[in-house]
Amino acid sequence: MSGGAGKGGGKGGPGSGKNSSGRGSGARELGVRLKTARGRTHSSQLWLERQLNDPYVARAKREGRRSRAIYKLIEIDEKARLLKPGQRVLDLGAAPGGWSQLAAEITDSINGRGKVVAIDLLPIDPLPGVDFVQMDFMDDAAPERLREMLGGPADLVLSDMAANTVGHRATDHLRIVALVEAAAYFAVEVLSPGGAFLAKVFQGGTEGDILTLLKRDFAVVKHIKPAASRAGSSEIYVLATGFRGRKEPTPD
Ligand SMILES: C[S@@+](CC[C@H](N)C(=O)[O-])C[C@H]1O[C@@H](n2cnc3c(N)ncnc32)[C@H](O)[C@@H]1O
Repeated sequence: MSGGAGKGGGKGGPGSGKNSSGRGSGARELGVRLKTARGRTHSSQLWLERQLNDPYVARAKREGRRSRAIYKLIEIDEKARLLKPGQRVLDLGAAPGGWSQLAAEITDSINGRGKVVAIDLLPIDPLPGVDFVQMDFMDDAAPERLREMLGGPADLVLSDMAANTVGHRATDHLRIVALVEAAAYFAVEVLSPGGAFLAKVFQGGTEGDILTLLKRDFAVVKHIKPAASRAGSSEIYVLATGFRGRKEPTPD
């Protein structure tokens, strides 16, 4: 499953003629150039042009999805079959809510089956079937709060968290690693046996201690680059499935 990503129009992508309900997603809407950059920085100009030319952004708008990010989870889920009705799912870094939206639909938490708990630094508009808290996941109080909201062991822990970059390579790398590490350590505390963990990591994949932890505690660990991941972006995802269960501390 690792690798295999292409640019925007991969299998099931916006150019494939298939949408999340399998019909009628049509042409790419490419080629918008902004006439004026007055008042915009160069990077915000590039961002805006990329948004306007991104077929997944257009598709998300058409299909009433909260974000283009949802198509990454749809693609991963189509291959790995992570989401199932009745599950308890935790979504870390959920705003604006695409992944939570999909999780609520498939778990059926919308109809009171299963549970989807989500956290983000930013607010989200309320989503049916999603219990959301606006909070820093790195806050000392976050684990307890999330545990309370879950009300029991999770079947799936998702993390699409991305730290704000400051432009200093080493600092940015440390911040990214710290987030993934915290997500992985929390996942092994709240998952039930057989559960899964999916997290955004960046170039180079999962390294060092996190990889050791995941390989010890999960039956299978893979890296995935979904087609909906922006071309040129260094993001990839680590997927760990078949959680072996918590190791009870051994008495001295
Ligand atoms: C790429 S977006 C997530 C998109 C989301 N999966 C979706 O489908 O709409 C990454 C999110 O991670 C959040 N984030 C980054 N650091 C965080 C932290 N320490 N605690 C909570 N959320 C965090 C950001 O605020 C941002 O909304």
